[in-house]
Amino acid sequence: MGTTASLQGECATRLRSDTIHPMSDLSHLLTNNRVWAEGIHRTHPVFFGSLTAQQRPKFLWIGCSDSRVPANEIIGLMPGEVFVHRNVANLVVHSDLNCLSVIDYAVNELKIKDIIVCGHYGCGGVNSALAPSAGRFFDHWIRHVRDIAKFYRSDIESEPTAAGQARKLCELNVAVQVVHVRESPILQHPAARGVTVHGWIYDIADGLLHDLCPMIEKVRALEPPCARA
Ligand code: CO
Repeated sequence: MGTTASLQGECATRLRSDTIHPMSDLSHLLTNNRVWAEGIHRTHPVFFGSLTAQQRPKFLWIGCSDSRVPANEIIGLMPGEVFVHRNVANLVVHSDLNCLSVIDYAVNELKIKDIIVCGHYGCGGVNSALAPSAGRFFDHWIRHVRDIAKFYRSDIESEPTAAGQARKLCELNVAVQVVHVRESPILQHPAARGVTVHGWIYDIADGLLHDLCPMIEKVRALEPPCARA
């Protein structure tokens, strides 16, 4: 056993040092993890034990991958309290099996009743939809946001500044994704009765969340008939 463990350790070390990240040393992150786990254990001795039994999150968070918008932290929740899906620009694309599988699992397995779609101001993915295409792979994904910018062009252009237009598109993007969730076959199924989909936007400048409820209802009324269930 000792020899096997030693070989495994040697192999992992070789992979780290020679193949994947020759200059990368992440030992400080492992140290951080131990400090974090010990801190939790000190204040909540049964915390990790209770999580091993099963997860019972009450919320599904669909947010942006942006490192400045960590789901649990900004709503003050601990591990186990929020089920999370994140991608660039917090999109819910009708054919994205990843996101749809998360929604399906959240609704039908975890019995979550509140889904939060959260965007944020200053979103790089959303901002790039207002700029010329860079011809990168990433542009295929952002094309979904460009379509929103095109459809809501007059709303966006009613904002007098470029910064205001970018903020408006961030908000509209959230509202459209909320409609996508609400009108997905998963949410339309009777098993999802009672599930509420919320649309929020996070301001990185002050750390505050804002509910986009009025805009969502407006967007829902304006979405093309082909997108309505
Ligand atoms: Co973003």
